[in-house]
Amino acid sequence: MLFKQQALLRQKLFVLGSLAIGSLLYLVARVGSLDRLQPLCPVDGRFGPRGQDEIPLRALQFKRGLLHEFRKGNATKEQIRLHNLVQQLPKAIIIGVRKGGTRALLEMLNLHPAVVKASQEIHFFDNDENYAKGIEWYRKKMPFSYPHQITIEKSPAYFITEEVPERIYKMNSSIKLLIIVREPTTRAISDYTQVLEGKERKNKTYYKFEKLAIDPNTCEVNTKYKAVRTSIYTKHLERWLKYFPIEQFHIVDGDRLITEPLPELQLVEKFLNLPPRISQYNLYFNATRGFYCLRFNIVFNKCLAGSKGRIHPEVDTSVITKLRKFFHPFNQKFYQITGRTFNWP
Ligand code: A3P
Repeated sequence: MLFKQQALLRQKLFVLGSLAIGSLLYLVARVGSLDRLQPLCPVDGRFGPRGQDEIPLRALQFKRGLLHEFRKGNATKEQIRLHNLVQQLPKAIIIGVRKGGTRALLEMLNLHPAVVKASQEIHFFDNDENYAKGIEWYRKKMPFSYPHQITIEKSPAYFITEEVPERIYKMNSSIKLLIIVREPTTRAISDYTQVLEGKERKNKTYYKFEKLAIDPNTCEVNTKYKAVRTSIYTKHLERWLKYFPIEQFHIVDGDRLITEPLPELQLVEKFLNLPPRISQYNLYFNATRGFYCLRFNIVFNKCLAGSKGRIHPEVDTSVITKLRKFFHPFNQKFYQITGRTFNWP
């Protein structure tokens, strides 16, 4: 009898203890996210009419909870109206460069309470069929957000597609444009690795990088190879500069975003006139992944998908040297135009 009572008491104590620990964890998580929002963040008027430039305190919790449901299309019209949610055209776009770290940049910026990302690449401006559907179609592809938040989308194909600058200009001539770049030869190899993986998945064979990057007839760099052409950043940027002044661009160092993301993100916050809200707390190095991962609060964190951070195939050093030599003058021009110098060889 006594033994039975003791067992019952132990059981009760266990349940109470679990409840207490659970509540404590919940409170710590909640306070963690609230802390990062205090005080209310003033956002520069450019992202909202004057007098309405405060980010609601609930914004971050909303981004992780209800808003997530809304994005999945689970919201009723009444809920959207009650929460004053809107689908806004982007105020900033990550236009490229493919394999520069565009996904990491978007996900990391989304840590900011005033930023709401479009999860999918929309391909509105580079795809004629999508573009023909009109701007309302594009807006409807955007996530729900508070009017004071800004929407950001990324479609790296924009950077290299001929028609895109003019089309974006027609939508918003004062939009902010983000370009994330990596050392051009590394980016080209990363580009190749992605295509190679796609071929392997379909059980297809593919050429070696060396064969694609070097023209066998001339033994010179093959400028017809897309992975090479995409890395000639200055050529593409010059097309954009026919529509937008250089002040509307911000260049992100994709190599540094891998090793030291916070300073790069702080530069972007500044460029977007956002109050600094992303901190070292939000980024932690995951040794297994070999990359920084994202921490929203004590319970919610995530790393990028395994398709980011692939192992590159080994490339003949003479080909690497040739490519680096080829890119060198274009890189110099790129530094000159953008005012941002990189230590690329
Ligand atoms: P690799 O796969 O060559 O390593 P994009 O998103 O534009 O396709 O860029 C992919 C690249 O983002 C990856 O290229 C990877 O190096 C880089 N990257 C930067 N930060 C990262 C992060 N925190 N986690 C995973 N990949 C990251």
